[in-house]
Amino acid sequence: MTDGRITTAKLGDNGPEVGVQGLGCMGMSFAYGPTDADASRATLERALELGVTFYDTADAYGAGENERFLSPFFKAHRDEVVIATKFALSIPPDDPTRRVIRNDPPYIRQAVEASLKRLDVDVIDLYYMHRRDVNVPIEESVGTMADLVREGKVKHLGLSEVTADELRAAHAVHPIAAVQSEWSLFSRDIETHVVPAARDLGVALVPYSPLGRGFLTGSFTDAEQDLTPDDFRRQQPRFTGDNATANATLLELIRSVAEAHDASLGQIALAWVQQQTTIHDLPVIPIPGTRKPSRVEENTAATRIVLTDEQLDLLNGIAAQVAGNRYADMAFTSAGRE
Ligand SMILES: NC(=O)c1ccc[n+]([C@@H]2O[C@H](COP(=O)([O-])OP(=O)(O)OC[C@H]3O[C@@H](n4cnc5c(N)ncnc54)[C@H](OP(=O)(O)O)[C@@H]3O)[C@@H](O)[C@H]2O)c1
Repeated sequence: MTDGRITTAKLGDNGPEVGVQGLGCMGMSFAYGPTDADASRATLERALELGVTFYDTADAYGAGENERFLSPFFKAHRDEVVIATKFALSIPPDDPTRRVIRNDPPYIRQAVEASLKRLDVDVIDLYYMHRRDVNVPIEESVGTMADLVREGKVKHLGLSEVTADELRAAHAVHPIAAVQSEWSLFSRDIETHVVPAARDLGVALVPYSPLGRGFLTGSFTDAEQDLTPDDFRRQQPRFTGDNATANATLLELIRSVAEAHDASLGQIALAWVQQQTTIHDLPVIPIPGTRKPSRVEENTAATRIVLTDEQLDLLNGIAAQVAGNRYADMAFTSAGRE
């Protein structure tokens, strides 16, 4: 890193070169309580100054609102940014706890046109299948995604929350640049099957929620008490009640490492994720989400921290002690199908 800028890495064998840390933009429009558009815009600009080039959104975030919000920033910096968006998931407005998943070809075609329009760009750099509908063969969905590449609507393909077998089947149809799945000190289920498959195939890993949706920074303890009524984290079992109380005690292990580095808890959580690149020998490009310029500075600075083997051992023990699942319904995750 020079002048505070982060270094770059290739997003898988066939993917673009990106900053080693991306930016998750979901919270700017969706899921995590009240937003401040000016602060979010300032965060996007500060991130770019610091070498963050990989920006993550989805059509589901605010039912298109997040893509629309990001559009002016992307247009102003089109040659400097790698735009990742997703299809497959929608949330019925009358029941925000429900998820509708579609992977069929007509739906994919309709979704990509809608995303291109909202983003107001000619091409999407990385197009992910957000969730898997097991009723549609993955070869069929990826076949349509590959057609979008041939037609110039999309440059690279990605998958989110897929199993190792699903990734292999998809990659046989068209090269997959990246798998996006939850990976953090609290969520390590993908290490058993998905990560080795990605390494074998030359696919990058894009960890989402690397800060455990903020819990690993210590910024909230009990979602029901600390967060607004519409905050999605109130639906996640590990952030409420006795689970949250038990999980908060695990932060003390992170704190001891943070003190040794004169770093924040969040920086240690990010350094641990980033270091999985060397541990598992594949590109790992986390996308921490924030809406504050000062936090993007803090988060990108974490790419300079190198944890010792003893510190990694200590931190590695945390995940097995976490109380509560990462989602109320694990059927929509790779772990739920493996
Ligand atoms: N594929 C999927 O299914 C999926 C699922 C979830 C998320 N995602 C993507 O992954 C991205 C990141 O995941 P995430 O946003 O769920 O979780 P995350 O990155 O683990 O945590 C985000 C939370 O941490 C807070 N935060 C960030 N930096 C901080 C810091 N330095 N100090 C204290 N708090 C800090 C943020 O608050 P502020 O915003 O207020 O700073 C926000 O509440 C999302 O934006 C989205 O693009 C994908």
